[in-house]
Amino acid sequence: MTKSSNNCIENEIMQIDDYIINNNNKGALMFIENALKLDDYIRLKEEAFGGVCHRQAAQASLDGSTYVLHVEVDGKTIGMARIIGDGGFVNYLADMIVATEYQGKGIGSAIMERILSFVQSNILDGGQTMIDLAAAKGKEGFYEKYGFKSRPNDREGHGMQLRLKN
Ligand SMILES: CC(C)(COP(=O)(O)OP(=O)(O)OC[C@H]1O[C@@H](n2cnc3c(N)ncnc32)[C@H](O)[C@@H]1OP(=O)(O)O)[C@@H](O)C(=O)NCCC(=O)NCCS
Repeated sequence: MTKSSNNCIENEIMQIDDYIINNNNKGALMFIENALKLDDYIRLKEEAFGGVCHRQAAQASLDGSTYVLHVEVDGKTIGMARIIGDGGFVNYLADMIVATEYQGKGIGSAIMERILSFVQSNILDGGQTMIDLAAAKGKEGFYEKYGFKSRPNDREGHGMQLRLKN
């Protein structure tokens, strides 16, 4: 999978009806690829998941991502998701986040569609690939809407995880 060039703006501006109806400033959403600023990443992550985000690790995570998509409204970063991929069989979807006040307006869905389209468009000819993720508690239903299957199921066991610290 090729990493998209940095600072590549999709030139895509999307109006979401619910958002516009609920906001007097009628801001448009802008989807931007591989240009998420470190401070915005840390802010979104800390707001969504709590705790204090390790700055160097956050930079390493952004640098090591295959694809980082973020959403701005009136210049403010209000959502994101990123893919870490090996270019072949495996992709990991991480940090799917929409800022609390913007949730429930279709923005998560718009991010997911673009993430899926990026991965789909990078499948090698005749090949196939997989997207793994670890859903936050209560968010499984969001991912199921896009075809993700919970584990364990008839074919597969639990997803598993090991956390290591320094
Ligand atoms: C999960 C999250 C990204 C969803 O973003 P969002 O902008 O609120 O989602 P949308 O408004 O685009 O919703 C899209 C669809 O998913 C559904 N949905 C959203 N959250 C859901 C949930 N927790 N369970 C089931 N369905 C859900 C919506 O009802 C909507 O369905 P519809 O298309 O039939 O109307 C957002 O809630 C979030 O950022 N949460 C905090 C961070 C987090 O936990 N991220 C997940 C880490 S694994």
